[in-house]
Amino acid sequence: MEVRVFPDAYGAALYTATLVETTIRQLSSPVLGLATGGTMIPVYQHLVQFHRRGLRFEHVTTINLDEYIGLEPTDRHSYHAFMREHFFDHVDLPLDCRHIPSGATCDLTAACQAYDEILRAHPIDLQLLGIGVNGHIGFNEPADHLKPHTHVVELTEDTIRQNARFFDAEERVPTRAITMGLQSILFAKRIVLLAVGASKAQAVREAIIGDIRTTVPASLLQLHPQVTFVLDEAAAQQLP
Ligand code: GLP
Repeated sequence: MEVRVFPDAYGAALYTATLVETTIRQLSSPVLGLATGGTMIPVYQHLVQFHRRGLRFEHVTTINLDEYIGLEPTDRHSYHAFMREHFFDHVDLPLDCRHIPSGATCDLTAACQAYDEILRAHPIDLQLLGIGVNGHIGFNEPADHLKPHTHVVELTEDTIRQNARFFDAEERVPTRAITMGLQSILFAKRIVLLAVGASKAQAVREAIIGDIRTTVPASLLQLHPQVTFVLDEAAAQQLP
């Protein structure tokens, strides 16, 4: 495991974006595992800037971690809309190479199976992750048992409260989501987790130096051979 600490969130996001660029330039058909959340917005801004200065995405495939259940892809609160707004609409990534779980279907079991097929067909070269204040990755919430594959999850009150800032009111936050499972995340060849701000400091400490446990899903990343935690000083403040 590698831990890189930057003075501020800007430096951490820029470094993360350069890791993505390196992967894109090194491989002939790179597969990126992508994340949403406020932390990722500056990363996508940098990637869009890189694109305007010559970085091409035409040979890239992307696979997003998760989506809320019950929101149409056109809903402005959906992760489909997030990805269009912050990234997809600004780069030359082919339409049929962008994958996000479908949370607006009545057959969620089929949607999960279809997503696992996509994951099997496209092994992830670089998986970007954020982290929840409760230690979740994707929408794999703290629990006694964690699921290996794509599945439906009930969001915790913590997560609903945290993510309410993206909605008009807490009651509007969907209570369920569809997320990639832990095995799919850990199968990525390389994982980069970006965390900034003091609110993430405890989750970061437990993920990096705590015992490996399902109640801190990010702690399972300690089992991965090539994981990099990219932090700002605030997020790193509880590390020794
Ligand atoms: C959501 C996403 C996670 C993300 C987390 C942190 O719950 N499902 O993938 O890591 O938010 O978000 P933020 O960066 O806004 O703190």
